[in-house]
Amino acid sequence: MKTIITYGTFDLIHAGHIHLLRRAKEMGDYLIVGISTDEFNKLKNKEAYHSFDDRKLILESICYVDQVIPEYSWEQKIDDVKKYHADVFVMGDDWKGKFDFLEEYCEVVYLQRTEGISTTRIKHNLKNK
Ligand code: CTP
Repeated sequence: MKTIITYGTFDLIHAGHIHLLRRAKEMGDYLIVGISTDEFNKLKNKEAYHSFDDRKLILESICYVDQVIPEYSWEQKIDDVKKYHADVFVMGDDWKGKFDFLEEYCEVVYLQRTEGISTTRIKHNLKNK
């Protein structure tokens, strides 16, 4: 079984997220998604609209997602890759090069982002309506 792992905030789910998750799942058999906890978002000066529990609930109902795990810190990725025996680590290409240090443990793939959409953009557009 080929396990894929990816990370993100996944707040206000949009088509870009779904395209990323679909392509990640197509690379293997089992997709694990690490989502930032509310505490970790605070550390990053980010605030999600939906709570961790709600983002987890929503992601778990997406057909491409097999398991959702919490992301507490920047440092945990190596441990997660080992713990879940991930074969491939996937991220959108806004992170290109940032996680190459994981190549020691698994394959690292950066997928092209979907153009023209992001959670930040949705929030911005709604605010300016
Ligand atoms: N992603 C993507 N295409 C987009 C937006 C996001 O492929 N248009 C990918 C990201 O590259 C990442 C994953 O989806 O691998 C989760 O991204 P996240 O940061 O949660 O989504 P954004 O919409 O980029 O959120 P924000 O605007 O808050 O940064």
